[in-house]
Amino acid sequence: MAFNSREFVESAKKQISNELIGRGILACSGGQDSTLLAVIANEAAGDRILSVFIDTGLLREGEVDDVKKTFSSFSINFRVIDASEEFVSALRGVTDPEQKRKIVGNKFIEIFERVAAEYGANTLLQGTIAPDWIESGGKIRDVIKSHHNVGGLPEKMKLKLLEPLRDLYKDEIREVSKFLNIPRITQPFPGPGLSVRIMGEVTRERLELLRKATKIVETAIEKWYAGSDDLPWQFFAVLLPIRTTGIHGDKRTYGYTIAIRAIDTLDAMSGTFSRLPYDLLDSISTTITNEVKEINRVVFDVTNKPPGTIEWE
Ligand code: XMP
Repeated sequence: MAFNSREFVESAKKQISNELIGRGILACSGGQDSTLLAVIANEAAGDRILSVFIDTGLLREGEVDDVKKTFSSFSINFRVIDASEEFVSALRGVTDPEQKRKIVGNKFIEIFERVAAEYGANTLLQGTIAPDWIESGGKIRDVIKSHHNVGGLPEKMKLKLLEPLRDLYKDEIREVSKFLNIPRITQPFPGPGLSVRIMGEVTRERLELLRKATKIVETAIEKWYAGSDDLPWQFFAVLLPIRTTGIHGDKRTYGYTIAIRAIDTLDAMSGTFSRLPYDLLDSISTTITNEVKEINRVVFDVTNKPPGTIEWE
């Protein structure tokens, strides 16, 4: 049977009404999935649900303000928690990707439990969708990456878990979002944020560099493809701790490397690298090396998924 947005929304609301006893909190990432869930949950239970957005310090420039704007426009009961100090300290000295994911995942849960206790909630609503749990070893495949919203959950979590979107794929999420007039969020962003886009240790300095490079990559690609259907599914910068020799003006430099990743896919399960035009790559590379002096080399990732995953960690 074909997927029907109206029926899906009705059944998700019914599930929330039936299973939410008392109050719940909702984990928002600012992405399409959890924003959709917040809108549906708001329709189903109103102020019995608090939507919580955690500022991890691993976010992109302007992200907190964007989230505030969207949630206010739907009159959702929400709160932003600034926990950047906690996250960045917890990641100090950590280089292993799975460790980073576990640390971020556990911190998320710890903070949500704290906020939930204050709010008197017994249930955690999460925007988990099918690819999240399938790739976390849910049923079909081996563990590829422990996505924070599945693999990072402590086994004895005190909150009851409610995941009304868990059978949906990305294209269905887009369909339902459009049906509810939720603005299209241009691209997904992982829960562990920039921590899995910095190879090696996450430091404040590296976060700052990556934030600048990310902004340049996103702005240039969005501008290039404005009004066209060819905008890649996801496009971002990755910071490599590898330093190489370069030249700036008449001075020798020894700077970091940025990799540009852009991918075309329908459901994030498999995909091909986007064929970005050389002129676009040229402009991104020149802007990054001109504006971020610690970076003196830019490379383009030409790996499909599989064998590469979309994120580098
Ligand atoms: P990969 O890198 O596994 O990514 O090919 C597939 C899609 O999932 C996003 N992603 C995540 N989303 N928590 C999330 O909510 C995570 O831990 C996580 N890791 C990857 C990724 O950006 C891509 O869209």
